[in-house]
Amino acid sequence: MAEQKKKRDGFGSKIGIIAAAAGSAIGLGNIYRFPCELGNNGGAAFLLVYLAVVIFLGIPVMLSELFIGRRSQSNSVGAFKKLAPKTAWPIVGYMGVLCGFLIFAFYSTVSGWTLEYIVKSVANSFQGKDMATLESDFAAFHNMGWRNVIWQGVFILLTGFVVFKGVQNGIEKYAKILMPVLLVILVILGIRAVTLPGAKEGLAFLFKPDFSKINAQVLISALGQGFFSLSLGMGVLITYGSYVKKSDNLTSTAFSVVLADTVIALLAGIVIFPAAFSFGVNPQAGMGLVFNTIPMIFNQMAGGYVFCIIFFVLLAIAALTSTISLLEVVVAYITEELHLNRRWSTVIACVGTMLLGCFVSLSLMENTPFTIGGRTVFDALDFITANVMLPLGGIFIVVFVGWRLGKTHFFEEVTNEGKLKSPLKTVIFFIIRYLAPLAVTVIFISGLLK
Ligand code: PFF
Repeated sequence: MAEQKKKRDGFGSKIGIIAAAAGSAIGLGNIYRFPCELGNNGGAAFLLVYLAVVIFLGIPVMLSELFIGRRSQSNSVGAFKKLAPKTAWPIVGYMGVLCGFLIFAFYSTVSGWTLEYIVKSVANSFQGKDMATLESDFAAFHNMGWRNVIWQGVFILLTGFVVFKGVQNGIEKYAKILMPVLLVILVILGIRAVTLPGAKEGLAFLFKPDFSKINAQVLISALGQGFFSLSLGMGVLITYGSYVKKSDNLTSTAFSVVLADTVIALLAGIVIFPAAFSFGVNPQAGMGLVFNTIPMIFNQMAGGYVFCIIFFVLLAIAALTSTISLLEVVVAYITEELHLNRRWSTVIACVGTMLLGCFVSLSLMENTPFTIGGRTVFDALDFITANVMLPLGGIFIVVFVGWRLGKTHFFEEVTNEGKLKSPLKTVIFFIIRYLAPLAVTVIFISGLLK
């Protein structure tokens, strides 16, 4: 069979996989979306639920995806076709590809803003402005719809360039350099933020939970945020799992990625909230929380000019390693299932995203005609992907592993055919088979009914 002899591209090293998977997980979801969700959902109470979600559901779901990917050596659609031929299971893979495409369409809008804000910070255009002016500048920028679209296009092109280069020479090479830089910059910013006057109040908001704030809305938001932040439920990790060598340890990869992602989200919280409280910014400021608060903070800080540039470069880097993974899911599907070459697959996926992306960016203008069910196209896509499609995908993935593929296959793969010890495999499989499907379903339905 000629097609099987063709060697698939893959990750060259263990650290490369972790960097790429963590690169996918760590992104605007941690630095931009996590503080927004935390601010809107009661602060520390949200954090607590979020941590429970990532530990008890995030790790098992991630391991399930890596397992499906490596076992099948296939993209997210091909994986289900191979492991469950002649069944309806590949629909889960198709849903993942669609979800990747939809997320990329709105994610690239915010990614584009990071480029605008790099330019603004280099031009020192935040200098001496108060919060009200920064807010109206931000709104004015959204109203320049086509400017948003152009930045979005630039970002899609950048992503397309890396993905076109392939797995080892593109994704792995860039992620290995970019991820550690990001961590270092965030630590420096965190140290600066907690030493600001009044930082304590922000830290209390982040770490002192008020349990009465936990309700269905908080649960579904934390679940959606957990899945979004860890890139779960749509096949990124199935696709990346298919590039992992048979000799690598899947369980420790999943633990490392979850740990890295959670540390970065917490660090982002430690940067944003003390600073926001210190300067009297409402933690529920939503989109503006990062894009207005950060320049405001740096405005009033020694060395703020440089820090501000670094921050937005950091945000762009974090976004890029995530958009790469979103695009890779779509491109891997087109190349392997529709048999187009990588170049054309990348072009088609990028053009498609750009077309939908225009509506997303233009939906943020005042009096925009682009709304769906009373929400802007941007909010509608964010909601439907993070709070509906990802949890749903997650449920199907764990049911597939727990009930269709079963324990023997799972144990074989996580122990590398018995060569590795995997002390937690029984507990993790129990969660995959019973707890995760139940918990995600209950939270998902209670969120829909609220
Ligand atoms: N996990 C990314 C973030 O937190 O920014 C976003 C994302 C990437 C979501 C890839 C889903 C995905 F498949």
